[in-house]
Amino acid sequence: MTTTLDVSSLPLVPKNPLPFWQLVKLVRRLDTGQEVIRDAGGPLTRIQFAPKNVYPPIVAVMSPAGMRDVLGRSDASSDRCIIHDEVRAMAGDSLWVLPNELWRPRKRALQPVFTKHNVRDFGGHMSGAAQRFVDRWPDGGDVDLDVECRKVAMQSLGRSVLGIDLNERADTIAQCMHVASSYTADRALRPVRAPSWLPTSARRKAARAVAAMREITDDMVRACRADPTRDAPLVQALLTATDPETGQLLSDEDISNDLLIFMLAGHDTTATALTHTLWILGHHRDIQDRVAAEAAALGDRELTPADVPRLEYTVQVLHESLRLCPPAAGVARLATRDIAVDGYRVEKGSLLAVGLYALHHDPTLWPDPMVFDPDRFSPEKVKARDRWQFLPFLGGGRPCIGEHFARLETTLALATIVRAIEVQSVEPEFHCEVPLTTVAKGPIPARLRPRR
Ligand code: HEM
Repeated sequence: MTTTLDVSSLPLVPKNPLPFWQLVKLVRRLDTGQEVIRDAGGPLTRIQFAPKNVYPPIVAVMSPAGMRDVLGRSDASSDRCIIHDEVRAMAGDSLWVLPNELWRPRKRALQPVFTKHNVRDFGGHMSGAAQRFVDRWPDGGDVDLDVECRKVAMQSLGRSVLGIDLNERADTIAQCMHVASSYTADRALRPVRAPSWLPTSARRKAARAVAAMREITDDMVRACRADPTRDAPLVQALLTATDPETGQLLSDEDISNDLLIFMLAGHDTTATALTHTLWILGHHRDIQDRVAAEAAALGDRELTPADVPRLEYTVQVLHESLRLCPPAAGVARLATRDIAVDGYRVEKGSLLAVGLYALHHDPTLWPDPMVFDPDRFSPEKVKARDRWQFLPFLGGGRPCIGEHFARLETTLALATIVRAIEVQSVEPEFHCEVPLTTVAKGPIPARLRPRR
């Protein structure tokens, strides 16, 4: 890797040639906008909306080498950025928004809940949530896959780590998350913003949404304080975590903030992964039958984490679905010093927009990128590929803490559902939007038939 000494001699990342107003719109279309920006300016391209002291230059990073140079470094050259600051201002401190230095001890405290080994304890909740989906439709019927998969995700997450079934408050959670995340992402990506003290109607609406979700997370904290033996591993881990600066236990408010972010990061993402996978399998019946046969070969008992090694093709299907529709379409960082990225210089203070969607759809990396082909993830092909080319959970120093949880949940759920039910998709397109994470835009209708 290029050392910091070389950085000053490198050329600045080339400026994107698209006109200002087109770029203003494109950067706010957090998935497909990336492709248009890349096609015009290449996989490493700079967008300058205003003088640096008004809005930082945005450097879009969409190549595997760029990913490695931004995410794979251990030299503290990037940190949280304007998006995290907006979320922090709205919803307080949490694992996702804390700057690296404050983040490390919080991560150490929470990591044990989410290790590959420990998430196996949640397998029963995960398979159970998927089995409920199957049991709701014993004779098949017409369903909205988005609604069904959200139920699976909320139940898995809630029962596994939060000590409640989130479905009891599903509507509030889904609506409030949408309002709060759209507001913060939209605000962060505007070159010109109203000052944060101004009580605009959008801000008031977002604040009300956060307050409604806090009521739910406050309840979780109260329940665990009242019953220290309550089965809610994440809440319990937060109750015993300490503040690195003071050595004090975290306040109930801080715990509640963290739980709120886990509800967002841990439910929308897996729900979208599952919804998109079932939708696409509903258009590829041969592949769906192969997934069903793989699961059926294990019998009709409840699937467990020990079955995952024998669900190899199911995992390939999930990977291909995560490539096509990454629930986190992109992430952002602040360059805290001048850094070398894929042969160019990124100036200190730049906003690094890490484009996972564009990376996963780059035709020079993935032939026929729009084609659904799980064989791209055969063990031989994975081995031959650059590890920075497929990053649904990110990588490097600050990846998704819930990766093992999500992988286990989606594998057990997909196998459990497809083993019992045949899915036929109705819509030719998977309509989605990206308020912050990628979510279905409206219902995803499908016809279900029991497999006998
Ligand atoms: C398919 C499912 C999922 C995908 C694709 C995904 C993807 C990601 C990505 C790309 C990030 C990095 C975000 C950034 O740095 O700005 C992230 C962070 C995070 N994810 Fe996930 N995630 C998934 C599921 C989950 C689950 C199930 C949980 C919790 C149980 C979770 C909790 C988190 C948290 C708390 C962070 C912030 C981590 C930190 O900064 O240390 N995610 N996720």
